[in-house]
Amino acid sequence: MAQRKNPCVLLCVTGCIAAYKSCEIVRLLQKEGMRVKVLMTEHAARFVGPTTFRALTHEKVAIDLFDDPEDPIHHISLAQEADVVLIAPATANIIAKMAQGIADDLMSTTLLATKAPVVVAPAMNNGMWTASATQENMETLRRRGVRVVGPGTGYLACGDVAEGRLTDLSEIVEATVSSLDPDVVSGPLSGSSILVTAGPTHEPIDPVRFIGNRSSGKMGIELARAARNAGARVTLVLGPCDIIPPAGVKTVHVETAHEMLEASLDAFARCTHAICAAAVADYTPSRPANHKLKKTLEPLDVLELKETVDILAELSRVKGDRRVIGFAAETDEVCDYAMRKLERKGCDAIVANDVSRADSGFGRDTNKAWWVTSSGIEEFPLLTKKALAERIVSKL
Ligand code: CTP
Repeated sequence: MAQRKNPCVLLCVTGCIAAYKSCEIVRLLQKEGMRVKVLMTEHAARFVGPTTFRALTHEKVAIDLFDDPEDPIHHISLAQEADVVLIAPATANIIAKMAQGIADDLMSTTLLATKAPVVVAPAMNNGMWTASATQENMETLRRRGVRVVGPGTGYLACGDVAEGRLTDLSEIVEATVSSLDPDVVSGPLSGSSILVTAGPTHEPIDPVRFIGNRSSGKMGIELARAARNAGARVTLVLGPCDIIPPAGVKTVHVETAHEMLEASLDAFARCTHAICAAAVADYTPSRPANHKLKKTLEPLDVLELKETVDILAELSRVKGDRRVIGFAAETDEVCDYAMRKLERKGCDAIVANDVSRADSGFGRDTNKAWWVTSSGIEEFPLLTKKALAERIVSKL
């Protein structure tokens, strides 16, 4: 698969104790497929050394207006290279400079020059944050289209518990990736929109109990990430699980098979492909109780179940010439069962995986799988779920 050029995030780090968290932000952005360049103020370099960022990013770290003798107009090249600019942590000082258009060092001149979308994640003492000057400056930035994330509330370096903390890192990464111009994220699937179902479903017995399964959601989430990295617009219909969905993907959280069906049909109306990786419950309680069942008062000897709608089969029925891919989790006769599922459900391909192995299937990081279509069976080597997801997406 031809790889797209990774979008470039210019991460601006200012002088604040939360600067150490910027190291983790670099990692999280890289995980989302971003190339990260770091620009720091001299004060920031007192909290975290440029060597750390250079090692993490494998890029030169910019600090001073005159520190790159090979680049005659450093602030302009930085400003132009960035597909998105993230200032995290952003001090009251840089916020004030941006609001006033002050350009007296490398960071402020770059910020004044850039045409890229800008995300600001403020972090400072609560008194500085709530000061009228800062609030008015923030208002100015928001009015100009700058995206603001946080600050959060919690323990601050000064010892207070108040608003002013750098907000949750996943929120910062999500805001940054989703601020990218979709044209920047070009790849082999640019122009396509893909529905991915993932995770388990929970079928309620009563308000506190449910029927579920062991799906972790990892495979589907990696598929959503791989499709996004290939340039597709992705809708992820996700059952209950603990994994944070990838940034830049539209995630619809659902609980039951019925909710997953409705959300999938709704999203598929606007999609060019679908990949059904969810472990959907095949049966659901016919009459879930609307109060907690008491074993002394209402002994549950028999739980009456009804079959759920097969989402993969339903999408295949309405797909026309769009491509629909399903999964088959099997413990034995893996490819035989997968071939039968392919015919029964009417999809274009089934990814058959062997969940009997210790290194494959539910909750694992690797999968042993086969690509099953009406024209034959292709065996994949044992792959990480991320690598398998990239293979599957490349088939589209
Ligand atoms: N699937 C679905 N909706 C359901 C059940 C399954 O969309 N109600 C999809 C899954 O997302 C997967 C494929 O069908 O892509 C196969 O799921 P699997 O549980 O392996 O197959 P089943 O049809 O449930 O067959 P069985 O449990 O008998 O193996």
